[in-house]
Amino acid sequence: MDLKSFIRDIPDFPQKGVIFRDITPLIKNPEAFKYAVDTIVEEVKKFDFDLVVCPEARGFIIGAPIAYLLGKGFVPVRKPGKLPYKTVSDTYELEYGKAELHIHEDAIQPGQKVLIVDDVLATGGTALALKRLVEKVGGEVVASAFLIELTYLNPRRLLNNLPIIAPIKY
Ligand code: PRP
Repeated sequence: MDLKSFIRDIPDFPQKGVIFRDITPLIKNPEAFKYAVDTIVEEVKKFDFDLVVCPEARGFIIGAPIAYLLGKGFVPVRKPGKLPYKTVSDTYELEYGKAELHIHEDAIQPGQKVLIVDDVLATGGTALALKRLVEKVGGEVVASAFLIELTYLNPRRLLNNLPIIAPIKY
């Protein structure tokens, strides 16, 4: 299936010069959504991990079904003021602006292995922040998976040797 044909490009959103890759046409199509999640699941099941760690909001849409299908736990990473218990935070640069993400301080047991999942890998700033958060609370990131990778922003430069799965590439 040509997954890319379900992605809608929105020029100059959320700001001038950025092409927003809109996943809503893909996730509303039952066959495309299933095919996309199943494709990622096939790739990530080679890795040994305990938890899927995902940032809100669009990351949850992709990460939750992957965790469910593979029988793993799901850990949400959220924007400030959203998680109810004590948190650890990280600040990072986004393709458009600055951002801060939080994780519950007890979300991960020491030594647990983590798969990071998000919808889009753009600059890699979010993924790097996720990796730092996981490490701050004692976990180990073994791989990362995305629906889309924007290779022209060179995100792999930030993520060193971390395995990256992404069925749709621009
Ligand atoms: C988008 C996207 C990724 C991130 C990728 O999230 O869902 O999380 O940007 O960009 P990066 O690789 O340059 O860090 P956004 O912050 O727009 O949040 P949302 O999912 O809540 O809309």
